[in-house]
Amino acid sequence: AAAAPTPCPAACTCSNQASRVICTRRELLEVPQSISVNTRYLNLQENHIQVIRTDTFKHLRHLEILQLSRNLVRKVEVGAFNGLPNLNTLELFDNRLTTVPTQAFEYLSKLRELWLRNNPIESIPSYAFNRVPSLRRLDLGELKRLEYISEAAFEGLVNLRYLNLGMCNLKEIPNLTALVRLEELELSGNRLGRVRPGSFQGLGSLRKLWLMHARVAAVERNAFDDLKALEELNLAHNDLASLPHDLFAPLHRLERVHLHHNPWRCDCDVLWLSWWLRETVPSNTSCCARCHAPPALRGRYLGELEPGHFTCYAPVIVEPPADLNVTEGMAAELKCRTGTAMTSVNWLTPNGTLMTHGSYRVRISVLHDGTLNFTNVTVQDTGQYTCMVTNAAGNTTATATLNVSAA
Ligand SMILES: *[C@@H]1O[C@H](CO)[C@@H](O)[C@H](O)[C@H]1NC(C)=O
Ligand SMILES: *[C@@H]1O[C@H](CO)[C@@H](O)[C@H](O)[C@H]1NC(C)=O
Repeated sequence: AAAAPTPCPAACTCSNQASRVICTRRELLEVPQSISVNTRYLNLQENHIQVIRTDTFKHLRHLEILQLSRNLVRKVEVGAFNGLPNLNTLELFDNRLTTVPTQAFEYLSKLRELWLRNNPIESIPSYAFNRVPSLRRLDLGELKRLEYISEAAFEGLVNLRYLNLGMCNLKEIPNLTALVRLEELELSGNRLGRVRPGSFQGLGSLRKLWLMHARVAAVERNAFDDLKALEELNLAHNDLASLPHDLFAPLHRLERVHLHHNPWRCDCDVLWLSWWLRETVPSNTSCCARCHAPPALRGRYLGELEPGHFTCYAPVIVEPPADLNVTEGMAAELKCRTGTAMTSVNWLTPNGTLMTHGSYRVRISVLHDGTLNFTNVTVQDTGQYTCMVTNAAGNTTATATLNVSAA
């Protein structure tokens, strides 16, 4: 017996037994009725739909791809995507959403791609995506009205591989710790200013990090230490004049670094970088970072600098640590202020632990200026502490004794 003809809405074209339904540019104000249950791919792009109502797609249990981009969607009702157990891709970019329609994502147990780019979303609250832990790709680029991202915004996204937060006016890198499988992170086009250690905590799987045109003026010591799997780093088109000594040393897989269009100051502080580029980067992928200053070296490639271009001196500890007698329970500080923030600073503790800037051990941390800070000393902290400051010309150490007496 011949199968009954499958319905096709008047505004759409249907093919492959109505598994592909295309209804683009029809000035639709609503999702059309009578879409075939066979539909796997539904394209409603470039219409005038404003509201996605509860149960709109409820019968489309085979639907895999739903495209609602370039409409006027300002509201997605709770239950709008009910009955879509096979939905893989949901596109909502270029719409008028002011909030993330978190509750509507319930039961989308196979969703892998969610596109929310270019919506006037103002905040990303806690657990915004925890109903869709299956997500692999999340596009939140060009959220130009974004003012707030909660510390727990990305909680639950344990399968996410790609996240776009480019062009979102971010002044800080949000808490990305939950994204344990993230491989690619786009943060370009923001206004980050400084990149601090700990910003990438938890991102041990990250392979590519894009930070172009992000107004980065300073990268702090040890800022990238958490990125053990990083292969590609793009820092082009920023305001960087220098980078801290051996910044890339912990990144054993790093092989592509883009540094062009930054006002590099070519002096002893970038000599390590010049060596690193020559040794680590086989081809010429990082070729085009050039000196901006001093005038005599302007236009030279960073990878072509020679130690003979300038005289380098071992670092100076401007404010060395002083011996300290304190009572148990007090706070304490051992100073180790250096002439420039571009040296690397490490502290060796009495039990042999090496501490770097940004590392944190319960009560002890190394502050940005090199200070070893104790929130609350114990008698066991007693002993010798050595600060080691390194640059391309060598290292300088200073030692002090901390003596903690029982309260
Ligand atoms: C950042 O997220 C992690 C894991 O999701 C959480 O444990 C941590 O408390 C968050 N940090 C802050 C400062 O809230
Ligand atoms: C690397 O690129 C620079 C600038 O484009 C060029 O002058 C140089 O010859 C290149 N080196 C190699 C080994 O290709």
